[in-house]
Amino acid sequence: MFRTLATRVLNSTPARLSARNLSCTASLSVKLSADEIFKRENKYGAHNYHPLPVALNKGEGVYVWDVEGNRYLDFLSAYSAVNQGHCHPKIVAAMKKQVENITLTSRAFYNDVLGEYEEYVTKLFGYDKVLPMNTGVEGGETALKLARKWAYKVKGVPKNQAKVVFAADNFWGRTLAACSASTDPDCYEDYGPYMPGFEIVPYNNLEALEVAIQDPNTCAFMVEPIQGEAGVLVPDPGYLTGVRKLCDKHNVLFIADEVQTGLCRTGRRLCVDHEEVRPDIVILGKALAGGLYPVSAVLCDDEIMLTIKPGEHGSTFGGNPLACKIAIASLKVLEEEKLAENATKMGEILRSEISLLNPEIVVEVRGKGLFTGITIKETKGVDAWDVCLRLRDNGLLAKPTHGDKIRFTPPLVINEEQIFEAIDIMKNTINSL
Ligand SMILES: Cc1ncc(COP(=O)(O)O)c(C=O)c1O
Repeated sequence: MFRTLATRVLNSTPARLSARNLSCTASLSVKLSADEIFKRENKYGAHNYHPLPVALNKGEGVYVWDVEGNRYLDFLSAYSAVNQGHCHPKIVAAMKKQVENITLTSRAFYNDVLGEYEEYVTKLFGYDKVLPMNTGVEGGETALKLARKWAYKVKGVPKNQAKVVFAADNFWGRTLAACSASTDPDCYEDYGPYMPGFEIVPYNNLEALEVAIQDPNTCAFMVEPIQGEAGVLVPDPGYLTGVRKLCDKHNVLFIADEVQTGLCRTGRRLCVDHEEVRPDIVILGKALAGGLYPVSAVLCDDEIMLTIKPGEHGSTFGGNPLACKIAIASLKVLEEEKLAENATKMGEILRSEISLLNPEIVVEVRGKGLFTGITIKETKGVDAWDVCLRLRDNGLLAKPTHGDKIRFTPPLVINEEQIFEAIDIMKNTINSL
């Protein structure tokens, strides 16, 4: 059908259109094979990603389908943006309803949805206020701007002297500030000069943190409660409690980057909830919109949030009515379907079964809830990338992170039968090596 349509478009195109326009129309309409899709992206798109070769065109719940109709269990969930499962019907319905009404007003005017969302999200997480943005990295930038502003207006740090501390191996996106905070050469190399006023300490090391934040110019420590991109690195129990205590002792803001760990992924609404710790600033993103839209948020109390005055920060799309309706629906699905509890139950089964896989190949298994990382020892020339290719061939999609690590983060709506389907695939794959 697609080919017929394309032919019709071609035949009816006026002669004055250039050959360039013609070929553009044709390739937009024709149904392509997976191979053709790979080649087209490679030719016309920037080479800033290295995707696993599979071309998807449909998603529902925990499953995705490729253009040839093959079905896969999605064990990446768009880097935890699709915690509610692909195309969750309640979130899709909320989006469809709002899209017919009004989608974008900008913050030049009030709209009748933003306040509803702000009230809902602040009450749910227990903070005075929220600042809505779009992507996770913008959430990080916003948190840092708030921390610096707070340093000058509240803490009394001398002008332009504020220092922010980060943990080594952090990942919070790709802006110049995020690259400046990174210890991964792929992220920062050749993007200097870097943002001043940043310092790095080892992750999961409270002694080093205290040395760094004793400096009275320190305004914040920004940290992931579990480091996702680094390979799902879980700190020792008590680390987050220790961070809270040190930040209190030295009057430093604790910023929790919950963009990946938050929203039930680790078995609690926020990952910091495992230690009953309340950060000063929480950054959310990804699953805040169930994969339908880019939505991020920064939560904190008035003492911090109100240091930013009108005109000093914002975003054209941040807090738009469409985003707000989608975010409310996404949060409600997490709560109503008890996805934190499900993540805990399913995660325990998953990790205990993965621990039974050949320990000479799967040398480490770690995680919390449905946030699991494994380390693969290269065996007979087969590394983590090859394991992911074989998992794909057997019907499960996952992606290596940092060479030898693979992250398993299925949608939180996964049930026991589907978990065992995944475990069978993993067993067959590892046993075949
Ligand atoms: C912990 C963490 N923070 C921030 C980000 C950046 O989010 P985004 O890609 O939406 O900018 C990511 C992305 O993976 C992340 O894992």
